[in-house]
Amino acid sequence: MVIIKVLAPMAGITNGKFCSNLIPCGFDMVTLGGYNADKASIKAGKEILSRGRPEFDISLENLFPQIEKESHLIKTRAREYDNEIKVSVNLRSLNPDPIIHISQISNVDVVEINAHCRQKELTTIGCGQGLLQDSEFLEDFTREVVNKSEAQVSIKIRANVDGVDEIEIAHIIQDTGCDFIHVDAMKPGFDEADLDVIKKISQSIDTFLIGNNSIKDVESGKKMLEAGANGISIARAAITGKLRFDLSKI
Ligand SMILES: Cc1cc2nc3c(=O)[nH]c(=O)nc-3n(C[C@H](O)[C@H](O)[C@H](O)COP(=O)(O)O)c2cc1C
Repeated sequence: MVIIKVLAPMAGITNGKFCSNLIPCGFDMVTLGGYNADKASIKAGKEILSRGRPEFDISLENLFPQIEKESHLIKTRAREYDNEIKVSVNLRSLNPDPIIHISQISNVDVVEINAHCRQKELTTIGCGQGLLQDSEFLEDFTREVVNKSEAQVSIKIRANVDGVDEIEIAHIIQDTGCDFIHVDAMKPGFDEADLDVIKKISQSIDTFLIGNNSIKDVESGKKMLEAGANGISIARAAITGKLRFDLSKI
């Protein structure tokens, strides 16, 4: 398997311009969003924004053209660097249809189901990390997206969520035929990734596993791969729009 290096989503930050500026760092895939993609998540996003958290505030009608524009910008900039970068879009929704619709954008290579965000405005409506609490709904939702998507499908989950068995979730995701499982291996109270959970998931399923959390240098990136991840993703270490280490050394 070829290793892939991904710029992880950061709501309110990772738009087309931001992602484009990071192309020279050597990412294989950049992630736009997270965007709120249905009425319920857009309402939740406005509430999150109003308490000062970064968010993208885009109306339902404008979301598709906005993502068309952002993904086109990235692909155009990538051609200047002779780079075949993939564009992923991280989407929060309780309805699979907007995700399926966005998968039809020609410059979108991957649609990523957000089963990760833990802001209470999202989880109380069962969105983001809330999807992990209802494995039956998660399975049907993901299967619907996988069956109808014109792009590859990723799902981003958070590890170590109370009451959630990530190995069971990983098996469900594998059964749906999802192309990528993107795991934020957050270890509550620690400033490092939970590599044991990455190891366990990688030994349980064959789905391409993107390991995320606390990759801030070459060493932490290599450790994620040694634990069994097939790829890595980076968010906060790129939040300034620059990387302080050489991705090609991982
Ligand atoms: C400001 C900010 C916004 C974020 N927004 C999202 C989001 O919308 N969707 C998502 O899946 N993850 C989001 N994340 C989580 C990151 O993608 C990543 O999982 C997390 O920061 C851990 O990775 P890191 O240690 O490389 O930062 C966000 C992170 C930050 C710092």
